[in-house]
Formats: sequence, structure tokens, C-alpha cells
Amino acid sequence: MNAGIIGTGHYVPDQVFTNKDLEKIVDTSDEWIRERTGIEERRIAPDHINTSDMAYEAAKMAIDEAGITAEDIDMILVATVTSDMGFPSVACQIQHKLGAKQIPAMDISAACAGFIYGVVTAKQFVEANVHKNILVVGVEKLSKITNWEDRNTAVLFGDGAGAAVISPVSGEKGIISHELGADGSGIPHLYQDEDVLYMNGREVFKFAVRQMGDSALNVVEKIGLTKDDVDYLIPHQANIRIMEAARQKLDIPVEKMSKYVHKYGNTSAASIPIALSEDVKAGKIKENDLMVLVGFGGGLTWGALALRWGRS
Ligand code: ACO
Repeated sequence: MNAGIIGTGHYVPDQVFTNKDLEKIVDTSDEWIRERTGIEERRIAPDHINTSDMAYEAAKMAIDEAGITAEDIDMILVATVTSDMGFPSVACQIQHKLGAKQIPAMDISAACAGFIYGVVTAKQFVEANVHKNILVVGVEKLSKITNWEDRNTAVLFGDGAGAAVISPVSGEKGIISHELGADGSGIPHLYQDEDVLYMNGREVFKFAVRQMGDSALNVVEKIGLTKDDVDYLIPHQANIRIMEAARQKLDIPVEKMSKYVHKYGNTSAASIPIALSEDVKAGKIKENDLMVLVGFGGGLTWGALALRWGRS
């Protein structure tokens, strides 16, 4: 029995912040941002909408789509680096808000790879028959740790949440391989100090291009398949140039790669589950498709998984 994804959900704030809006606050241009990142606009949460509020909305949608209720959830994992408070966790906040039972709930800190870390953790509990329906959320309010005077980083990020319910699925479906990793020697390239995010863009870019391609291919080859078997790719939506590098490594057509970076920017742990939920609702993923989800982030961390789509 494999663990698979039986429901997905997402939430993004209403407020759209365009590249033209950014031109008014830092020395940048719409043209530079589009060419170097592929980003056209992003969503920014107002003061009264916090990380846990976005997580809650995405979670509700995923639970509904799974055809279960909050009472059926038996564990909650939330991937985030922008929790409402140092503690308690966002997972505990949404456990209460959803009206879930007194189940285990915790946050995972693995930056943009956090959702993959969460799903792989959930898979272990499901396949060991310890828990049956695990809610995994990736959520960020990056706007609150963005230095709005630093053009190197201010243009990249957005706010939002994505969620999935991980449960047993039948037959050959579900998560069939994964890879997780971390390299703490990369901490100086991407970190948060006090309330602000710092990044050496060029170093992160080099790492990401290599790691995304390698991890995407590894999860396919370790189960005896080849890149020709891959039907759909969901890369972390950091920068279109990094996403393209992963796509080219797998040699799959443009329309078979999920792309929301132009609309939402880099939403860190939320980017992969938002893309997944959008793609499911748009009917882009077909039963039995072999999908690869791959991400990287501050840590440096990385993670990938291969998934055969479908629940029955
Ligand atoms: N507008 C205009 N010019 C800019 C901007 C901007 N917003 N930002 C940088 N520049 C300038 C630089 O100052 C530099 O000028 P110089 O040549 O006079 O020094 C020039 O543009 C080129 O800068 P580079 O850093 O070489 O630009 P690059 O092509 O590498 O793109 C970018 C920069 C987009 C940041 C890229 O390196 C990147 O995507 N890196 C990875 C970022 C990432 O994915 N981070 C994940 C973080 S997620 C998390 O963990 C929360």
C-alpha cells in the first residue's frame, strides 16, 4: 500500500502587487523582473491576514476535495518559515480552527523544500499504518520578512498557502519514490536574521539549477524508470530560469510543466502545493500520470518525489 494525495487546496490573498507597483518603491523595472525571473505579479496579504489564516483556508479546501471532514484528519504537518508567532506552531493553530480532534500537530522548517519534506514525512506514518489522513500544508507570509528596500529580494516573493491530504491509495498509485537532503554549509547564501531575509542570489541560483535537475531525475531512475516515463513536472516556482533547467533535464514539453511563477512569484513552501491544487482544478493532471514534484530552499535543503496520480 502506498500513500497518495486524495485532496488538494490553495489560498492566495486578493491584493495583487505588480512589477509596476515595485518600480515605485525600488530601483527596478518590469522588464528586468520578467526577463530574469518570469514573475509578473504576486499576492500580498494585508496586516489582518496572517499565515495561519491562509493555511486554514487552503486546508479547508483540501479536506473538502478529499471528501472527508476535519474530524477524519489524524495528523497535521505545516511547512513554513513565517509562522504567526515563534510558538505555538501554525499546525496547532489550524488544528483548533478546523475543529480537528486532539491529534499530533507540528511545523516543519525546510524553507521552500518544506512541502516535500512534509509529504514525505506523512507518507512514512501512512505506510506504517499509524495514521490514515494526514493534512500537509505549505504556507508563507514572506511579505513580513521581505526587505522592501532591497531590490535583489523584494521582487521575488509572494504570500499564499497550499494543502494536501495524504492517505492510503490503491494499486500502483501514490508516492513511489522520494529524495530529501540538506547542506548546512549553504546557510550564508540564504537566511533570515532578526526580521529580514538575506540572499546571495547568484549562489542560490547555481545550486538550484543543479539540484532541481539532479533530484528530479534521481527519483525517477531509482525506481527503474526513465525521464521518458514522466508525464508532468511540478517544480518549486522560484524563477522561470531555474524551473526551465529542471524541465530540460527531464526533457519534457513546456505544457507538461506547472507554471504559476508569473502570477504568484516565489511563495516558498506554498509554491508546490498551490501549483498542484491549481493544476488539479484545471484538469491538467490525468489519472495514472507519473508526476515529479521537486523543490529547493534555504538550509540549503532540497526534496523531490515521484507520484503516480489517482486515489482508486
Ligand atoms: N532590478 C534591476 N536590477 C537588479 C535587480 C532588480 N530587481 N536585482 C538585481 N539587479 C542587478 C544587480 O545589481 C546586477 O547589477 P550589476 O551587474 O551592476 O551588479 C544585475 O542586476 C545582475 O544581477 P544578478 O544577481 O547577476 O542577476 P541574476 O541574473 O542572477 O538574477 C536573481 C538575480 C533573480 C535573484 C537570481 O539570481 C535568482 O533567481 N536566484 C535564486 C533566487 C531564489 O530562488 N531564491 C530562493 C529563495 S526562497 C526562500 O528560501 C525563502
